[in-house]
Amino acid sequence: MTPYLTQQHMEVLLELLHEGIQMVDPQGFIVFCNEAAADLDSLKKEEVIGRHILEIYPSLTEKSSTLLQVLKTGEPITDHQQTFLNYKGSKITTVNTTIPILEKQQVVGAMEISRDITHVRELSEQLVDLQKKIYGTPRKPTQQSKGTAKYTFEDMAGTSPTLAKLKQKAAKAAMTDSSVIVYGSTGTGKELIVQAIHNTSQRKEKPFVAQNCAAIPATLLESILFGTVKGSFTGADHRPGLFELAHQGTLFLDEINSMPMELQAKLLRVLEEKSIRRVGDIRTREIDVRIIAAMNVDPFRAVQDKMLREDLFYRLNVVSLRLPDLSERMEDFSLLLKHFIDKFNRRLHKNVEGVSQEAFRILRNHGWPGNIRELENIIEGTMNVMDGTMIGVDDLPYYLKKSPGFRSPLGAGTHISPGDNLKTVMNRLEKQLVLEVYRQTGENTTQTARVLGMPRQTLQYRLEKLGIKV
Ligand SMILES: Nc1ncnc2c1ncn2[C@@H]1O[C@H](COP(=O)(O)OP(=O)(O)OP(=O)(O)O)[C@@H](O)[C@H]1O
Ligand SMILES: [Mg+2]
Repeated sequence: MTPYLTQQHMEVLLELLHEGIQMVDPQGFIVFCNEAAADLDSLKKEEVIGRHILEIYPSLTEKSSTLLQVLKTGEPITDHQQTFLNYKGSKITTVNTTIPILEKQQVVGAMEISRDITHVRELSEQLVDLQKKIYGTPRKPTQQSKGTAKYTFEDMAGTSPTLAKLKQKAAKAAMTDSSVIVYGSTGTGKELIVQAIHNTSQRKEKPFVAQNCAAIPATLLESILFGTVKGSFTGADHRPGLFELAHQGTLFLDEINSMPMELQAKLLRVLEEKSIRRVGDIRTREIDVRIIAAMNVDPFRAVQDKMLREDLFYRLNVVSLRLPDLSERMEDFSLLLKHFIDKFNRRLHKNVEGVSQEAFRILRNHGWPGNIRELENIIEGTMNVMDGTMIGVDDLPYYLKKSPGFRSPLGAGTHISPGDNLKTVMNRLEKQLVLEVYRQTGENTTQTARVLGMPRQTLQYRLEKLGIKV
């Protein structure tokens, strides 16, 4: 017998979801809600069903209630951020998607899925408040505050021609106010070079504000960047955004390719007009901020894959700096090794002199997929627990010591260790690639599926098969 989905199954399923689900009749009376939706209202399910939406949410109006709007227009609203006071007076922020229920082209109701982002919002507001504390009140030029950029070009170890050229180009860019794009794999030193540019520039006494665009939900990023005014539809308070906090300094937008396209369009406007408008505000505020953007894919590729707007790319790409993988500049390897041994000798009060010949061979033969960060972490970890003054094979982490097998020029994931075969290598590569896209899209399955050109369900099945937990 083939199983089929009954209404009873449906109701069980809807109760299992963490998202709140509500359904209203054409007059706006609630006819269905799951436990999660009732929780948002801090009411019991029985107390919600049968009541009017404006009675349950006294702070909403016919205009600001997405359910009532959809009943009126018959048009869906997606990913809309809403802040409201629930029945008990708590301030709740949700992201809603609301769709009309149609029967013979007539709107016979509306349904809404709500995700509670109250905590995320509170956290990100705390983040801006903290930055404000660090930099002082924005827009008071007399109040000079040093930012949090600690690195300079001297911290960038390496004498290979690639690195020397890169440092030279970056130092030149530091003298100007041009926008810069920095790109390269994870752990190659993107943040380091960005900080070095700020610290060498004329803005070095002014704030350095960094924001990872993938770390904050898309709906909140706009208010974090541009700030908010009280009473706007988001229900936010008066709060400056990072642009205002970075006034006269540098704003570092990391993983800019994770920024939603509409926000990229707004960012472009800000760069062109040199002024911002806080969310919900009518007045504009002039700002003087240098933008440096970073990402871990080639920006041309990001444009092709529709992760970066072409117009924004050309506006930002006045100077572009590519950080090479460590495997591309192994001539710097010994120097980097010494750099980190010296660093951790100072920090851990040790006198390690170097590495044994065999340990050096193992380190050199490693593919370094995590680049300089991986090397730094390994040296720190090893020096933390070792005795003596020479790093020997026994001191190294186990995973490095497995016979190096075949070092593929295609990159770390494709190295063939004993016990590997083409299938295991291909699986590893697929996993790496899928994970990388997943990370770059801000862990968004729908976007990941789009980039990889496969249906979302197929992707989810593949993720499960590859043992990737979403
Ligand atoms: N040339 C270098 N010399 C010395 N240390 C370096 C160099 N490049 C990077 N590092 C160190 O490696 C670590 C990783 O660098 P960083 O955080 O700048 O990488 P990233 O490219 O921003 O990585 P991700 O994409 O993962 O954010 C840092 O501790 C940094 O100080
Ligand atoms: Mg970084």
